[in-house]
Amino acid sequence: MKNSYSNIFTFNKKTLKKTVNYLKKSNVVGLPTETVYGLGGNAYSKNSIMKIFQMKARPKFNPLIIHYYNFNDAKKDIITNKYFFKLYKKFCPGPITFILKKKANSNVHPFSLAKLKTVAVRFPKHKILRSILKEIDFPLAMPSANKSSGVSPVSAEDVYEEFQKKISLIIDGGVSKIGIESTVVDLTSYPKILRPGRIDKNSIEKTLKLKINKDIRSRGIKSPGMTKKHYSPGIPVLINQKKYDGKSAFIYLGKKFKNKKNFFSLSKDQNLNIAASNLYKTFRLIKKKGYKKIQIAKIPNKGSGVAINDRIKRASNS
Ligand code: TXA
Ligand code: MG
Repeated sequence: MKNSYSNIFTFNKKTLKKTVNYLKKSNVVGLPTETVYGLGGNAYSKNSIMKIFQMKARPKFNPLIIHYYNFNDAKKDIITNKYFFKLYKKFCPGPITFILKKKANSNVHPFSLAKLKTVAVRFPKHKILRSILKEIDFPLAMPSANKSSGVSPVSAEDVYEEFQKKISLIIDGGVSKIGIESTVVDLTSYPKILRPGRIDKNSIEKTLKLKINKDIRSRGIKSPGMTKKHYSPGIPVLINQKKYDGKSAFIYLGKKFKNKKNFFSLSKDQNLNIAASNLYKTFRLIKKKGYKKIQIAKIPNKGSGVAINDRIKRASNS
């Protein structure tokens, strides 16, 4: 431990061993991923799953994503198809989650799947997380490490902010590079994007050589967790704002209001990937500074902008 938090640990051989032991004993651990930090537990263990739901105060009907080292580890739990293999080959390990049918004899605990017959699988890229996944012989059920409906954490300190001493081990893996949750694609029938992310619709269409429906939520099953209210920083959020109200925190793209008090740019160069990676950080910062309200300027709805708009729209529903 080389910091002022007694439960945040830097990663090394010793803390790898500690983490593996914790997980084997069905404890829940705060872990870094390239998207956001997660609250990880043994996906085969009822105890771990119950702890995760309890800590997050997460509704029981909202299933968890199951994280694996690679396909070889996942194949006993999932029924694959051609869409899966194409996307796996192109993007994994990486920030994408696949909804697939579950094999009947899978050991993934039904509680983590909210008793569904499908399973959400992800192969994360973060080096530290991969070395942990390699050491264990079970996958990790891992939601974002925040209280249900709040803002996802992108650093070990953010995880501490969410749970303080209620979590005994948080592994510090630096700031999450992507900064926004993985793209969720339903592959149980014709591909559908359930949650937009860094890997956008265009790149998925190109890889699969097909067109995905425009309105991601217009038909078919929804993700049980995609409730309207989500990603809330705990203060009102107004989107598509044109006029500054003189007192709120104002989030925008570019450098027009550089050095101006109360103005927060997500990316000086209007780069949407960078903007996405700064969104949650900026929400937390604004909240800490004591602002009572957030105004957000219109964000272009392309690439990572689609993911940003999805999250801020839900944040504005609080
Ligand atoms: O980037 C990420 O995906 C992060 C990191 C930690 O890996 N995890 C994450 O998990 O965002 P969580 O629990 O915050 O969000 C998972 C989403 C929820 O909206 C949930 O409803 C959906 O995935 N989901 C999980 N299993 C599903 C299933 N079988 N069918 C449809 N949606 C599912
Ligand atoms: Mg979440």
